[in-house]
Order: sequence, then structure tokens, then C-alpha cells
Amino acid sequence: MSLFRKKDLERTLALSRGPGGLKKVLGPVDLILLGIGAVIGTGIFVLTGQGAVTAGPALTLSFVLAAICCGFAAMCYAEFSSTVPVAGSIYTYSYLTLGEVVAWMIGWDLMLEYGLAVSAVSAGWSGYFQSLIGSFDLHIPVALSAAPGARPGVPTLIDLPALLIVLSLTAMLALGVRESARANNFLVAIKVAVVLLFIVVGARHVEPGNWHPYMPHGLGGTISAAALMFFAFIGFDSMTSAAEEVRSPERNLPLGLIGALGICTVLYMLVTAIMTGIVPYAEFKGVAHPVSLALQYAHEDWFASFIDLGAIIGMTTVMLVMTFGQTRIIFAMSRDGLLPQRLSRLHPRFRTPFLTTWLVGITFALLGALVPLEVLGELVNIGTLAAFCLVSVAVIVLRRTRPDLPRAFRCPAVPWVPLLSIAFCGTLMAFLKPLTWIAFLVWLALGLIVYFGYARRRSLLHTAPQ
Ligand code: ALA
Repeated sequence: MSLFRKKDLERTLALSRGPGGLKKVLGPVDLILLGIGAVIGTGIFVLTGQGAVTAGPALTLSFVLAAICCGFAAMCYAEFSSTVPVAGSIYTYSYLTLGEVVAWMIGWDLMLEYGLAVSAVSAGWSGYFQSLIGSFDLHIPVALSAAPGARPGVPTLIDLPALLIVLSLTAMLALGVRESARANNFLVAIKVAVVLLFIVVGARHVEPGNWHPYMPHGLGGTISAAALMFFAFIGFDSMTSAAEEVRSPERNLPLGLIGALGICTVLYMLVTAIMTGIVPYAEFKGVAHPVSLALQYAHEDWFASFIDLGAIIGMTTVMLVMTFGQTRIIFAMSRDGLLPQRLSRLHPRFRTPFLTTWLVGITFALLGALVPLEVLGELVNIGTLAAFCLVSVAVIVLRRTRPDLPRAFRCPAVPWVPLLSIAFCGTLMAFLKPLTWIAFLVWLALGLIVYFGYARRRSLLHTAPQ
């Protein structure tokens, strides 16, 4: 039996439309908001401080580079998700084109992306939350304020706010995707309003002199910052894991992907141009709240606290959408028999994968509450970049193996755009630390062990060959 056995495309599509399929409730606006929900968060509100120190005012250019990289990948995602709108995103696409073992490995890889992203963001959320309630003189007992070992010399046991926020979001997701999308839309609207507020208030305080020199650390600094700021775009792909729940996916998915990416890029460029126009870039060194710092610098303290609130809301939606994405990937893997079948059972009333949602939510919550994850942040980037490379390969392969398939959205200039996507992602991956590569390879090796020890024999392609 081949390691590269593939699922039948027509059968997969039929299954997703049948009674076991998920409810089709999401429209184009929901999708764009879902995308923005997953994207704007820690990257812009926290990491831009470090980015500004690395690139100087050219941080705007770093954002353009990261956006181009994501744009190429988004074209590939758009072609695939509009052609094969089933749950599971890149996991399912690879199963159809590249074979089972590759699909399993990418599903395994995505657990790293989503799991660590949610857990790391939950710790950041907790930090912002505690600083906000601190301004009202409310404090959480030290032991319950952070993961053990997160603050050297401080006896912390568990990060309670991080635990509670992830569990609350999980409860919402378990109750229904429509309800979660509604809550997400509301929160995203506030988050975008806060970003716009920053742009309007901040623009008045820009000193163009701060933009010179524009590129103090050369092109190298600009690219290093792009590799870091890539994190700020992570998540736009997670909307494709909802493909099965989208109405008219052939039109709405490309619109959602490209719309969300475009809007976020423009917002990011404006925010960073204004930040570095208000504050001389070197002063962002070691700053964890760079966006609100810019307004404090301009003596707009009142607006600055709004920015902190926006950051908390921003991170909330990032966690919501990422947790959602993870549950759909596990759902798809279980439906294929690669994970226990119980995980793809839908709740009779809520029509959501109830058990999977809680399993994922509890795991992410515990991880965020008990493990200090900053050191592992780069793993999120490497996992995502690997997924982007694979979806680009998959587009080229499917064009060759199934040229006949109706494609509502066609990625332009194939194979060049997918090849550029691979080249860009590969370059950013090369900029990541050796330790990140080692951890990534260890995780993949573990995945292979589980595949050969369990998944391969349980796969529906094995037990019920097509
Ligand atoms: N893009 C997401 C963020 O910046 C992961 O928080």
C-alpha cells in the first residue's frame, strides 16, 4: 500500500455536502471579519516595538515584504479553498493531491501553529488584562498571575486569566459557529475602530524628521524585521479551515482571503508609519506596548488606554479564530480515520464537533496557563511557513493531475506565483533560529511515529479502500 495514497476528490466533496457535513452559515463579510479577527493582534500591538528597533522607520517596508509573501500564498489558498471547499484547509488539500503521509504531517504541523499561537497569545492577553485591571487597583494573587517560571524569582504557579479566557472562548465555540461568528464580528469591529482611532489621533503628531534615516540597518534589518512581522499576518489562512461552513465558497473564499489580507496590510503600514513618525525608532527598545507608547509620547494618555483595550480585544479574537481552525482540522483528520472517529461526531443540537472543541480548548488553555511559551514563539512561524510552502506545491500538482476540475478562482501565473511563494517562505524560514529548526524537526519526527504507530492502520483509505 502506498504511503502517498490519496483521497478521492469527488467523494470528499460529496461527503462534505451530505448530512454529516457542517452547517453552511458564513457569508463574505463574516469571512473577512474572521480573517481580520485572526490576524490583527499580538503582531501589531506587541511585536512592532522589536520590529521598529530592528528595521527603523523601514518597518513599513518590512510589512510590505511579509504581506507579499502572504499574498502569494493567499492566491494559492484561494484557488484550493474555492475548488475544494471542505473542512480541514491545507490538510485536506494535501490529502487530495500529495498523499496521506504528507497530509498527516501537515495536520500535525498545523497543531503546532495553532496550538502554540493560541497558548502564546493567551499569555500576552493575560499580561495586558492584568495591566488594565491594575489601573483600577485590582490585582490577581501573584501565584495565579503567570505560568511557573515565567518571571524569574517570582513564585508563580498558574496563569489563571489565560486559562479562563481560553476556556470561555471554547465554550462559545462549542455552542455554535453562528454565535461565535457574531461575537467575533462585534469584537473585530471594536478592534478595527481602535486601530483607526490610533491612525486619526496619531497622524496629527507625526514629525517627518523621525523617518530619516529611513533604513538605518540596511536591507538586512528590513528583512529580519519582515521575518518577525510575518507573525502579524498569521491566521488569515485559518478562514479556509471553515470552508465547509461557507455559503457560495467559490466566490466568497477568495474574496475573504484577499480582502482580509489587503485591509490588514494597509492598516499595518499606516500604524507603523505613524508610530515611527511620532517616536524616534530607537526608543521602542524593550517596549511591550509600542502602539500605546506612541500616544503617551504624544501626551494623548486618554486615547492610549483605549489602545490597550483594543489590544486585549484583538488578542481575544485571534485566540477565538485559531482555536476554531484547530478544531476543524482535527474534525477533518478524524473523519478520515486518522484520528479516533469520536472526534468528528457532531453535537445533535449545536451541530458543532463538541468533544473536539473541548479537547482542543482545554489543551490550549492548560498549555498557555502552565508553560512559559515566549521561547517557542518562532515555532509558530516555522509551522505556518511550512504550511504555506505545501499549499503552493499542492496547487502546482493539482493543476497537472486534475486540469479538468472546475476552479472558481484561478491563482494567476501558475507555476510562477506558487514558486515565488515557496521562495519567499523559504527565505523567511532560513532567517529563523537553529533551535527553532531542531524543535520543528523533533515535532515532525514524533508525528511520523504516531502516523506509523496508529493513523496509517486506522485510515479509512486502509479500512475501507476507495
Ligand atoms: N497574527 C496574529 C497576531 O498577530 C497571530 O496575534
